[in-house]
Amino acid sequence: MKSDTKNVKRLFNYYKKYPTLVILVIVLNLLFAFISLLSPIYEGKLLSYFENFDITKIITVALTLVVIRIIIEIVTNLWSRVILKLNARVNFDLKRDMLESLTNFEVKNFDNTNSGMFVSRLNKDTTELSQLFDDVTDDLSGIILNISFIVYVFFLNKYLGIFLVLNVILVYLLTILKLKYYKRVRKDYKIKDEKTVGLYTDVVRGIREIKDLNLKDTILKDVNSKTKDSIDAETKSIHTRRTWNRYIAAFQHILDFIFVILSVYFIKKNMLEVSSFLIIFLYKNKVLNLITFITDMLERFADGKVAATRVFDIIYYNTFTKETYGTKEINDLKGNIEFKNVKFKYNSKELFNNLSFKIHEHEMTAIVGKSGEGKSSILKLINKSYNVDKGSILIDNIDINELSEKNIKDNMSIVSQAPYIFNLSIKDNIRLARPSATDEEIIEVCKKARIHDLIIEMEEGYDTVVGENGVILSGGQRQRIAIARALIKNSKIILFDEATSALDNSNQEKIKKIMKDLAKDHTVIIVAHRLSTIVDADNILVLSNHNIIAKGTHKDLMKKCDEYKKLYEVEEN
Ligand SMILES: Nc1ncnc2c1ncn2[C@@H]1O[C@H](COP(=O)(O)OP(=O)(O)OP(=O)(O)O)[C@@H](O)[C@H]1O
Ligand SMILES: [Mg+2]
Repeated sequence: MKSDTKNVKRLFNYYKKYPTLVILVIVLNLLFAFISLLSPIYEGKLLSYFENFDITKIITVALTLVVIRIIIEIVTNLWSRVILKLNARVNFDLKRDMLESLTNFEVKNFDNTNSGMFVSRLNKDTTELSQLFDDVTDDLSGIILNISFIVYVFFLNKYLGIFLVLNVILVYLLTILKLKYYKRVRKDYKIKDEKTVGLYTDVVRGIREIKDLNLKDTILKDVNSKTKDSIDAETKSIHTRRTWNRYIAAFQHILDFIFVILSVYFIKKNMLEVSSFLIIFLYKNKVLNLITFITDMLERFADGKVAATRVFDIIYYNTFTKETYGTKEINDLKGNIEFKNVKFKYNSKELFNNLSFKIHEHEMTAIVGKSGEGKSSILKLINKSYNVDKGSILIDNIDINELSEKNIKDNMSIVSQAPYIFNLSIKDNIRLARPSATDEEIIEVCKKARIHDLIIEMEEGYDTVVGENGVILSGGQRQRIAIARALIKNSKIILFDEATSALDNSNQEKIKKIMKDLAKDHTVIIVAHRLSTIVDADNILVLSNHNIIAKGTHKDLMKKCDEYKKLYEVEEN
């Protein structure tokens, strides 16, 4: 309950930014309810004039009715314009804030979550939430209108007024019961739906692997069974709602019959005029809409509550964690890195127990070791994608946790093992790393990354759009674009994780030289399986059993480290 109140406040804050629009919506709504009430009153008059057939009065009242109805249309239209504007603003604000939060999440939040879940919250739930006020005010004006009508009926005949109120209460109680059942099945559906959306994203993303590994049958079987579950759950929820609606309608038919009998009695006793009866009879069903409005509103609140939790959980980091940074700035960062008794685990699985080593500025350091030793993890700790659990990482002798986000990100770039290339032109992909880069600078880094000649051969050259994750490029080309992206940033510390693994020997040799060159005034760290790429590194760290077992130059290690020698010889053969 407490978190619900919090969420209401949070949503309220989004509307607070647009007071004029909010007030306009409320005023137009009240105006609509008030003018709408005039309709049955004048219709009642019209019917009574028909009884005496007073032509002038009939025409006057009929004309008044036309005017009232046209005014209602105008007010409704105005209201619609204002509320749409308000919806759009709140929708945008929610999406913007959610995206901002998402980009500030600690990376580990994405490890065990399906990206489809985030997409569905970002897309569906924000929209739903931004329409809540629209729906609720719409329902509210219906409620006001109908309550006013009940009051009017009390004026015509208090017993029928009481009957109507009782009618409303009885149907309301039934509806509460309906909601209880409906909410349960609805929740089940939402959970299943979120899972399927996640799976769909996986299928589309992994379509190539699915084809290559011939997983079509296996995957489709799984996806289809989950889809069926979700559709079944949805059908069940709709069926539950509809069945209950039919129960309630049947009950109402019985009440209608009682109403007619009561009216006959009152007319007989001269306690009710026939024209009043007609008008109540005509409008009675509208009053029963009151229930629909109230339950609709309750349903919207129920759905809104779910959507609010999903949206605000992200915006306010409720179940997710935000990256934390310090405030210190090193002005002229040199690029010395030190791991001091670092303990680190993913989830509950410990990776490093007590890892210590130093990396020096103006050096090319290599990290080698078998697959799964934790080489990539070390790089991810250096660029603070993950945080150590104990011990510390020092940059120029300052704990990385004390440095500002800007200081860290500006001074570091990483070419990761599987770099993501955006669905933009080649030029824009590279420029992402430094928006101020000129075309000439982009060409220069592409030459260094050995990709320039390939780019100019393409029909659209640097303007070629590369598809999702650079799908139109080869693996080696993607790697070289990623290297160019790191080079253009020209940060003090540059991390290469298997950055040249997909390149042919000649290109690898050339890029190796560039890296060595870079190390003259940068800190360069290279992770590579192919030891030939790192033989001339200034310092090589050998990882075994998730710890550094030796360090030194290639020559040193060949002499003193069996593990390294083994790695090297396996490759030689
Ligand atoms: N996000 C993650 N969540 C949980 N475990 C992870 C995560 N990333 C890596 N691991 C685990 O941590 C260990 C080290 O992974 P890491 O990627 O650092 O190895 P690596 O030395 O770079 O291997 P490779 O040479 O194959 O790239 C592996 O056992 C891996 O399963
Ligand atoms: Mg790795």
